[in-house]
Amino acid sequence: MALLELDDVSVTYRIAAGEVPAVRGVSLTLDAGTALGVAGESGSGKSTLAMALLRLLPRDARVGGRILLDGDDVLAMKWGRLRAVRWAEASIVFQGAQHGLNPVQRIGDQIAEPLLVHGLAKPDSARGRVAELLEQVGLPAWRARSYPHELSGGQRQRIMIAMALACSPRLIIADEPTTALDVMVQAQVLTLIKELLAERGISLIMISHDLSVLADVCDRLAVMYAGRVVEHGPSREVFHDPKHPYSAALAAAFPTVGDPVSRLAPKGLGGDPPDPMDLPPGCSFHPRCPVALDECPTLDVKLWPAGPERRAACVHVRPEQAEPAETTLEVS
Ligand SMILES: Nc1ncnc2c1ncn2[C@@H]1O[C@H](COP(=O)(O)OP(=O)(O)OP(=O)(O)O)[C@@H](O)[C@H]1O
Ligand code: SF4
Ligand SMILES: [Mg+2]
Repeated sequence: MALLELDDVSVTYRIAAGEVPAVRGVSLTLDAGTALGVAGESGSGKSTLAMALLRLLPRDARVGGRILLDGDDVLAMKWGRLRAVRWAEASIVFQGAQHGLNPVQRIGDQIAEPLLVHGLAKPDSARGRVAELLEQVGLPAWRARSYPHELSGGQRQRIMIAMALACSPRLIIADEPTTALDVMVQAQVLTLIKELLAERGISLIMISHDLSVLADVCDRLAVMYAGRVVEHGPSREVFHDPKHPYSAALAAAFPTVGDPVSRLAPKGLGGDPPDPMDLPPGCSFHPRCPVALDECPTLDVKLWPAGPERRAACVHVRPEQAEPAETTLEVS
């Protein structure tokens, strides 16, 4: 059974200037023990979607659709159940959270906090569990006595991963876990994430604007544009043979991990992502699309099948229109 199922999920922020449709009709499935990468430019709705999964959005956000975690409807959960689910069943590593560690609290106390809050350890046994968690993320146990400013950015990110692992969740949502790190440290943290997935059978949703990083870690990829998923499928296929022009531009914009040639010649995409309050009609990507057709500004675009286990929202993969059925005139 799928661990996580999203059915037509939408998120709209209400602000003074009007409504911001940040996520629009996203349907995705994550099988247990697999990793899904969510890619897209800044403002495409990745973090909003991630926060909707555990109902962490501000009050001014209206969420629609259905989110099933292990068959349980997250949007309908009572507060007590939701609290138990957060950390214990699914935990989230927030974008830039490594800078949000409490600067005056020792690392060990910060890692122990979710264990104590969820009654999974007593203060004396928590110390042993903290040492274990530090070891799992490749840090020595004595680091528990350190303060955040005594650690490097990469080490702080490992602490965030240790905190996410603390209550042994089945699902970890990692929002840009390596973006702020230099390439060497980024590679180390990615290796750590891959090892944890392989050893512990955890499911992962990893968010990044870098398709090459996601293709390296994840089984499947979903590419978001202007709040919608515009392509999804097996990660290597989406990365190496994208079917949507936006995925193609995103794949070309970042060098392939371990490929020095592509590192020297990344290509960019012209124009800016659209303002969600003023989305272009039809296919929202049409003003920037290099292969747009005349009909794209009025197209009723759908996620059409684009190969085995693949879908893409582009007219170029739209199946041939079925010929209108012949009507037979019955003459009596
Ligand atoms: N609290 C909020 N109130 C109103 N609008 C918001 C709020 N948070 C995000 N938005 C808007 O929703 C859209 C999606 O934002 P989101 O943070 O989900 O994008 P993102 O894909 O995570 O971008 P980034 O790569 O920069 O992190 C953006 O247009 C953003 O301005
Ligand atoms: S539907 Fe048209 S505008 Fe949209 S991505 Fe495809 S070709 Fe480009
Ligand atoms: Mg974000």
